[in-house]
Amino acid sequence: MQNVFTGDVAARYDEDCASISTEEALSPMLDVLQELAGGGAALEFAIGTGRVGVPLAARGVPVSGIELSEDMVAELRRKPGGRDLPVVIGDMATTTVDGTYSLVYLVFNTLSNLIEQDEQVACFANAAAHLAPGGTFVIEQGEPDLRRFPPGALAVPFEIGDEHLGFDTYDLVAQQLTSHHYRVGDRELLASHHRWVWFGELDLMARLAGLRLQDRWADWHRTAPDNDHTGTVSIYVKDSRPA
Ligand SMILES: C[S@@+](CC[C@H](N)C(=O)[O-])C[C@H]1O[C@@H](n2cnc3c(N)ncnc32)[C@H](O)[C@@H]1O
Repeated sequence: MQNVFTGDVAARYDEDCASISTEEALSPMLDVLQELAGGGAALEFAIGTGRVGVPLAARGVPVSGIELSEDMVAELRRKPGGRDLPVVIGDMATTTVDGTYSLVYLVFNTLSNLIEQDEQVACFANAAAHLAPGGTFVIEQGEPDLRRFPPGALAVPFEIGDEHLGFDTYDLVAQQLTSHHYRVGDRELLASHHRWVWFGELDLMARLAGLRLQDRWADWHRTAPDNDHTGTVSIYVKDSRPA
């Protein structure tokens, strides 16, 4: 399984994400997650360095995690609130942890790190399997910027700065994109591969897993999506009726 979140990438993850990790930036997301946990326990798929899980736990929500990268978890363990947070190393599509949860969440476009449809379908099923009846699966997923990828184009730049150049290339047949990064000082280009999904496919994967759409927003402020939305926050609920 591919994963770029190791070594130097893991070591500088928190620094790279500083602007989206402030209390002000995170609080709309944390408000939603805390409310949906409803006093119960939460499981974060791909918890990483605990950017979200650690401050959510600090609000009193019992948070556990599944994470593929030991290097990311090593960063989490360095944080005071991350030392004892239960985290299992494994693939969020297949790894199980003990207990049932009132909330499972997967944020920051991370479903797309699973680059096969079967893996994404399995991830939804795994989320559902960890939920108590009536529990919710929350997924934050960006959408590809295909409007900026005209016929004949090689790539779509997403950052051209003094320190970092980033651009996406698209495979419209495989439904996959590759994000290419070059940072000053790097000896190599970094390429991370993703499978994008529109929200219609999210809904279908949820239905296959026995989950029903409850809400969809364009952001954590609960804004309704419009034609210019760049991603969605989708809230799915596990039916509490007996099967
Ligand atoms: C963009 S980071 C998000 C981390 C954290 N959720 C956050 O919001 O900061 C993506 C994370 O997904 C992890 N990851 C990638 N593929 C995974 C998989 N199949 N199972 C579990 N974790 C995975 C990476 O190691 C990395 O920590």
